[in-house]
Order: sequence, then structure tokens, then C-alpha cells
Amino acid sequence: MDGRDLVRSMKSVSALGTGHGLRTVRAAWRRKRVDALGLAPRGAERARVPGHVQDVEPGPGGGLIRFARSELRIMVAVNGMVFWGWDGAGPEPSYALAGACPEPDPRALLEPDKDGGWRVVAERVTLVVSRHGAVEVQTPGGVTLRREHPPRWWEPVGGGVARWMQRSEVAADARFFGLGGRASGPRLRAGTYRLWNTDPGRPFGPGDDPLYITMPVQVVVADAATHLIFYDTSWDGSVKLSEGEEGAGSGHDLVGTSELRMDGGPLRCWVMVGTPARVLLSWASLTGAPALPPAWALGHHHARWGFGGEQEVRRIVAGYLERGLPLDAVHLDIDHYDGQRVFTVDHARFPKLSGLAEELRREGIHLVSIVDPAVAVEPGNAVYDSGSAEDVFVRDVPGQVVRGLVWPGESVFPDFTRARVRAWWGRQYEERLALGFSGFWHDMNEPTSFVAFGESTLPRSARHDLEERGGDHREAHNVYALGMARAAYEGLRELCPEQRPFLFSRSGWAGMQRYGGAWSGDVATGWPGLRASLSLVMGLGLCGVPYSGPDVGGFDGDPSPELYLRWFQLGAYLPLFRTHASIRAGRREPWEFGPEALAHAREALVERRRLLPYFVTLAHLARRTGAPYVRPLWWGAPEDRALRDCEDAFLLGDALLVAPVLDPGVDRRVVQLPRGRWYDTATEKAYEGPGRVLVDAPLARVPVLARAGAVLPVRGKDGDMELEVWAPARGRTGSGLVVSDGGAGWDEPEIERYVTRWQGPRVVVEREREDGPAEPSHRVRVRGLPEGLPQT
Ligand code: NOJ
Repeated sequence: MDGRDLVRSMKSVSALGTGHGLRTVRAAWRRKRVDALGLAPRGAERARVPGHVQDVEPGPGGGLIRFARSELRIMVAVNGMVFWGWDGAGPEPSYALAGACPEPDPRALLEPDKDGGWRVVAERVTLVVSRHGAVEVQTPGGVTLRREHPPRWWEPVGGGVARWMQRSEVAADARFFGLGGRASGPRLRAGTYRLWNTDPGRPFGPGDDPLYITMPVQVVVADAATHLIFYDTSWDGSVKLSEGEEGAGSGHDLVGTSELRMDGGPLRCWVMVGTPARVLLSWASLTGAPALPPAWALGHHHARWGFGGEQEVRRIVAGYLERGLPLDAVHLDIDHYDGQRVFTVDHARFPKLSGLAEELRREGIHLVSIVDPAVAVEPGNAVYDSGSAEDVFVRDVPGQVVRGLVWPGESVFPDFTRARVRAWWGRQYEERLALGFSGFWHDMNEPTSFVAFGESTLPRSARHDLEERGGDHREAHNVYALGMARAAYEGLRELCPEQRPFLFSRSGWAGMQRYGGAWSGDVATGWPGLRASLSLVMGLGLCGVPYSGPDVGGFDGDPSPELYLRWFQLGAYLPLFRTHASIRAGRREPWEFGPEALAHAREALVERRRLLPYFVTLAHLARRTGAPYVRPLWWGAPEDRALRDCEDAFLLGDALLVAPVLDPGVDRRVVQLPRGRWYDTATEKAYEGPGRVLVDAPLARVPVLARAGAVLPVRGKDGDMELEVWAPARGRTGSGLVVSDGGAGWDEPEIERYVTRWQGPRVVVEREREDGPAEPSHRVRVRGLPEGLPQT
């Protein structure tokens, strides 16, 4: 950044800062006033439980069980997923569901059970309902995976929205994952986790909860099976978890529990049971296939709040190019806007933005734009004027447009729960496309509105369309960013039908993967923040959002060269690999941390580029199967209890196990291996799992192990794709899938499947085809061979 730009940016922040104090106090009072008028205080409440079974009405996939004070609708769907809803709630309407609700399975029948209860037996799961309304999810073999106690409601005596509580038990050996993006996971230990998308307002670490993306989704891994449960309600709530313990010697295992309390909304849920892969496949079929990022988005991104101007962008890009460091995208933050107003450009600092975009494109670098939902209240601003004319902004109960305070000052907020507002918002991206942007970074969309006290979001009484049903912010808040993502995605599809939209978002909800990915938000610079980064990415992946990543280096402050490098090395193996930091933070370019860090960061960048075809394959597989690129170690072996507790390593697809360094001063680390043979990719030394091994982790690299028998596509030195094959153990075979797609369009690339096996002293690799095995279509390199053996 040149001196002038720096001073300018700092000035604008401090101007915002000082003015901000008073304005945030005013904004907080205003918010409070709006709610005082618009929300009736909760008066006396009456508690209710379902009571006894009265009668049943069989229906497709299950039916209706009537209790004295509620009714339970059960539906087993054709793909084995189970739905149930209390007070007669059905699966629709739902913001999470991708399309039409899955068809009921006609074979699933409601049958009488013992003690006056009922059950539904389906192919993959049995549901047992007691006469008091407890619901048990059992495996076909009759092992109970989850017991839901009869729910409890609290209804305002004078009428209104009922709060409710659902207590559940799981096996003692079960471990909880999910709930959206959590900094303290991926294994969710005993504690209370809130379900309300929240900007923590400062850089966060593992102790901060909730964060920007919450989801009522639990993935529970136990000896008997894995299950995913989704309580489909967007209201504010909390989940209190406790893990079970083995009842040493007593003969009784203590159970794990989940206690879900919601402020409103239907009590309904979906459950899917099976292996982790099966469960995520079902989840993707219910809530939608993850959007496929364009190939360039799987490379390295450099972002910065406070580039200051075009020249600084050029300087950074030149820094990458001169040093031969691969760079695929540059992100412009709010400081490229005119007065921080969305869909505008500060022409003084960015006089020829489209020229810059073109220049970068010639180097193969794409420009990504931040997009905030808040629109400055400023007659004369095109977005404000057209939004006002089309009546798109959220209003309060008396009908006034709700005002908040965001970067540009007084702001208003589009109501993304209304179809015509989404269409209007989608059209705004035309301005960005014309400037040459090819991707979008959605920020501040919890939505955040600055306040000196109270909640930093819209008033809870703010009215929303909610697809014509009408409701308030209590119900719309958690799905606000989801609606924004949908608006952008659908708009981009219209505006630029030949390209796959690229967007990722700070906030979101179940189903957000249909439109794009996510990033960590403002993760705190420090070793705990590094750990939180991995937790977030793994947790989101298990909630169906496979494409995400942290701010490499952390959002604030100045990482030490060692911390920066370790973050960079982790980032190189995560789907979204992006350096980013606050306007107040120190530098984040790889060359700013000394020659040693630069040399090793270069190796990480080069390795990422080499692995690009593998990342592309993983992106395609995520879209087809819902499997995240980054998977916990228990993914293929959920029965291995030690793996359930391992949080400092992950599988990247089927082939690689990445063991990042998450602590300072480390040059070796313990790696928990799943069963099978694993090769240290740096030394080709073989290890046998399951078990713990000690491997070298010098500053130059983090340990990456390859599964014996893996076949993965990589980019060869000449730029052509080659197959990296890791020798199977003797007498074993191996395989791998390859999807070649270097583009950003919609062509369906072919999926190639390769198999590998020993044939005498050789490892052979063949392409599987319907008409028999064929020669591989790419060059093959076999690794992990005992010395002296021929290559193929
Ligand atoms: C908050 C975001 O989390 C951060 O990444 C961004 O730099 C700032 N907003 C400014 O836009």
C-alpha cells in the first residue's frame, strides 16, 4: 500500500470508529424501541406434553399418531430417511429442503408395538413410538441409536408462539459433531451451543459461541451406526450436549444427551442412518447437492481489507508473480466501494477497475468482490433508490423501513425471504460482472447491524415475507444469509448462464451448499485460532457444506512467521485457500515473513497447484455424493473409537491424510492412523494402521500420508495431468476416481475409475471400463514401492 492510500484507509476507519460510538448507542436504542412496540412481552405460559396415544391413522410411509394433546406425523421416505413432526407438522414449507419433499416409501407401515406403542419398520431404520410419545430410532437389528423423550411445549396463555424442548439420549460411546460452524469442535463436547447466527463482533477463538453459521444438525457417531438428525426450524434456540461415559464395571453405560430448546417454530425433524458416507449422501439428496466451484476457485486466493487502491493490488500481484508464487484470485473488500456502499466503486482509488480485472485475467487471476446486504440510506444511491422504488427493504410492525448501522452508516436491509426481492437483488450483480468480477464474497449477512448494546442484528419484531406466510425476524434471522445466497446464485445464473457462479458466505443455514461455500469469518490470530479454523471447516463439511476455509494467518494482529507458515500449510489442504486480514492487521503476503517462511510457503503453494486435479475431483464427488473434501479420520472407520476423538488431523478425500501442525515449536507429531497401510508422502516410509505413529513435521512441511492403493490425479511438471499411485499392500488392491475439469462451465466431465493391483513384481494400474480394463488415459507414477522394484 502506498503511504497516501494507507493514510486514507486509516482515516476512513477511524472516522467510522469515532462517529460509530454515538451512532451505535442510538442504533441500540432504536432497535430496542422497535421491539418494545412490535413484540408482545411473554406473559404466563402453560406447559404441555403429548399425553397418551388415542388413535392412529396410517398413511403413506407411516401415518399420524394422535395423542391426547398433540399428534405425530411420521413419514419414511423412499431413500430411507425418516421424517416426523409434532402437532401434525409436515416437512414443508422448509428453507432447508432442496426441492419437493422426498416421496413416502409405501412399504413402511405403522404397526402396533408392545405396551400400547406403535412402530414403523423401514429398510434402514425402525422407529418405535411409545404410548407417551417417546420416539426411538433403531437400527434394523433393533439397536437404539437415539431416544427422543416426549417433547414439552410452553404456550403463552393468551395465545402466541410456543417454546419447546426436546430431550434425547444417545449411546454412551456416541460423539456429537455438526451444529454448523463451531470454533471448539469438531467433536462437540459437553456444553451449550446456541442456534442463532451471530457476528461475535471481535476476532474469535475456540471459546466463542455461537458464530456466524449455526444449524440444528447433529451428526452422531456411535458403535452401532452413524446418524444425522436435523430439527427443521430456523428459530433461536440452544442445544445442551453431554457425552456419555462407560460405566466402568457397573454394567451400565451412562448415556450421552442432547437437550434442544427452541423459542418457536415447528417441532419436526429428519433422521438418516448408516455409514458416514451414506448419511451425508442422504443429507445432500434432501437439502441439495453442493454447488461446484469453478476450477480456479480451488487455487490460492489473496484478500485484504485495506488494499487501499489499484496500485497496491498491482504491487501484491506483482509480488506473487515475480517470486513465481501461484495465485488464482484476488479479493477486494469494502474499501474499494465508494464510502463502503455495496455495488459501488471508489473511482479515486480504483479509477479503472475493469482494466485491472482484465490485466489480472491475462495472468489467470480472477477478481472476487465482497458483497454486504446492507444498503446505505442515501437518496441518489442507485441501489437504495431502486430498492425503495421496488419496496424491497425489511419493515417494522407499524410499516416503517427498519434502519440499522453498518459500514456505510445508516442502512436498510433487503428482505431475502421474498421471491421478488431475491430477483431484484440478483439483478444487482450485473454491475459487478460488468466490472470484471468473477466471484462473490458475502459478508455481514447474519445480518449484522452495529449496536452499543443488545443484539447486533435487526429487531426481532422486524417483519419478513417468509414466502408470503408472513412472520418476523425471530424466524427469518437464521435463514437471512441463505436467502441472500440464493438470490445471488439465481441472479448470476440468469446474468451469466454459461458460468458456474462462485460465491461463499460468512453466514448461512442448512442447505446453503446449494449456492456456494463459506469461510471462517474473523478468526483470531494465534495458535487457538489456527485450531478453530480446522474445527470450522470439518464441522461445516459434516453439515453438508464442503467448500470452506479460514483467513490464513488469522484476521487480526501479526502472526509470527512460524504461525503464519503453519496456517498457510493447513490452508493449502483446505477447499478455500485464502489469505485475508483486517485493515488494522499486519501483512499477510508470503514474502513478508522472512526468507525461510517464504521458501516453505512456496512449497505449500506449489503442492496445492500440483494437487489441483485432485481438488477438482473432490469438488465433483462432493456434488455427486455430499461427501466433504475434508473429512474427520473416522469417516471410513466410525467404529474406531480412538478416531472419533482425534481432532488434529483429517482425511482429504479418500487418498490423503493431512496432519497439520497446530502448536508452536513442533518438528515431529503423533498421527492417529485409521486401519490399513499409510505412506508418509515425503519419505515414502510405510506405516501400518490402526494406531499412533510419530512422524517428522519440520517447518518445511506438514505431514501428509497417502493411503496404500490410492490413485489420485495430480498436475505433472509439464502441466499435464498424471496419476499418482500409492502401491497397495501385497495381496491387496486399490482404486481412485478422476474427474478432469479445468473449467468454470456446465459440461459434465467423464468420471474415470482406476484400479491398481500387484501382478508379480509389478504394480499395475488399469482404467475400468464397461467393455473391460483399459490403459490409463494419463501418465502413471507409482510411489511407495520397495526399493529396486520396477515402476509399473
Ligand atoms: C467482516 C469480515 O468478516 C471481514 O472478513 C471483512 O474484512 C470485514 N468485514 C470488512 O469488510
